[in-house]
Amino acid sequence: MTPVITIDGPSGTGKGTIADLLAQHLGWHCLDSGVLYRALGLVAQRRGVELDSADALARLASEMKVEFRAKRVYLDGDDITGAIRTEQAGNAASRVAAHGKVRDVLLAWQRQAAKPPGLIADGRDMGTRVFPDAALKIFLTASAEERAQRRYKQLKEKGLDVSLQLIVTEIRERDERDRNRSVAPLKAPCGAFTLDTTSLSIKEVLDRVLGAAGGVFPDSVG
Ligand code: C5P
Repeated sequence: MTPVITIDGPSGTGKGTIADLLAQHLGWHCLDSGVLYRALGLVAQRRGVELDSADALARLASEMKVEFRAKRVYLDGDDITGAIRTEQAGNAASRVAAHGKVRDVLLAWQRQAAKPPGLIADGRDMGTRVFPDAALKIFLTASAEERAQRRYKQLKEKGLDVSLQLIVTEIRERDERDRNRSVAPLKAPCGAFTLDTTSLSIKEVLDRVLGAAGGVFPDSVG
């Protein structure tokens, strides 16, 4: 069986960055599952499908073709790498992700990403639902204020004029929806290695995660 490490947690905890670094370190594949929900939110908005129409969204999810090539994301052949990273796309993703039928359609797609030599999977339900047998489950947290600050800094660096207060409000709303939905809610998987990253640098988080991974895969981590 292909070894899998899951990394779950709310947005802005550094999951994606840590998943990439860990995958590079181990030479494993990396799955950013949020991209699927972001792509679906985007295609729904482009085609005028309501974000609360579970059946229509599930159909769209089964028809859409998402590909990862050279660090870019393609939806039906169209480069959507930038379009899916906006706050609006994150919110649309969180709304389409609340439907059980949509999640069921995307389940098989995510599982087939587990290919040798191994997979690092990041998202909200990687350890609880998609890869319940993962050898190591990591759960990253950070205060909403710190996560908003990180996002604010990223957007400012891109030259965008944004309000910190608005970002805090959006992060809280998204957390609330992701934690309280009836299907696959965001929560720490049983037995997860949980880390509060509020006052840690990326390097400090990576070192601790590598420490945990070394305990489970001593030959791979080295
Ligand atoms: O991780 P990211 O911020 O890209 O995810 C966007 C949204 O997609 C999340 O707020 C969440 O609602 C949804 N999501 C999910 N399950 C996953 C990954 C993402 O519900 N495994």
